[in-house]
Amino acid sequence: MTADNLTLVRHPLVQHKLTILRNKETPTAQFRQVFREIAFVLGCEATRDLALGAVEIETPLERGSFPYLEGKKLCFVSILRAGNGFLDGLLDLVPSARVGHVGIERDEETLQPKLYYFKAPDHLSERQVILLDPMLATGGTAIEAAAALKKAGATRIKFLCLVAAPEGVAAFGEAHPDIPIIAAALDRRLNKVGYILPGLGDAGDRIYGTKG
Ligand code: URA
Repeated sequence: MTADNLTLVRHPLVQHKLTILRNKETPTAQFRQVFREIAFVLGCEATRDLALGAVEIETPLERGSFPYLEGKKLCFVSILRAGNGFLDGLLDLVPSARVGHVGIERDEETLQPKLYYFKAPDHLSERQVILLDPMLATGGTAIEAAAALKKAGATRIKFLCLVAAPEGVAAFGEAHPDIPIIAAALDRRLNKVGYILPGLGDAGDRIYGTKG
């Protein structure tokens, strides 16, 4: 299943690196390094339509007008904690980008996702915002994070993940039809406890080595 709101990045380097991330034998240090690399390539896709203006400069040979990014600096927003895995690679690509963080936890009573932390740069309404979470599973966390960004003024948002489940793509698309999703893969489905199959396991645990 593919959806209108989903772009799959089929670049061979992305697919190769994703296989390394999926492999349960990949050690933590390599996982982090490869995540950094895949983030860089996915970042190229996520930023492909940034607005370009022009600037007058002199090359060593002559003067001319050349393309130059215009507008406010773009903003990466990490959904804690696994979204942080994207930051090194994306900041390699766009070192001047601003960075925000969103923390979402499950409310013990309602079992619904609940915002517990939000910090984002000023002038969100004037920035391209790229929301980050490696796994789009049920979509609950990403939906809540995107809603918090909109509440804070963001109008141009993209959602970047590594692996998406059909259930998450559908739910996110219904809640935020204006937000494109960019992913390296659309996997089969969720299991009973909300993990993506075949997936890569718990992305936070794989990045930070907090299990095994
Ligand atoms: N979060 C993860 O880290 N992995 C999944 O498979 C689903 C949600």
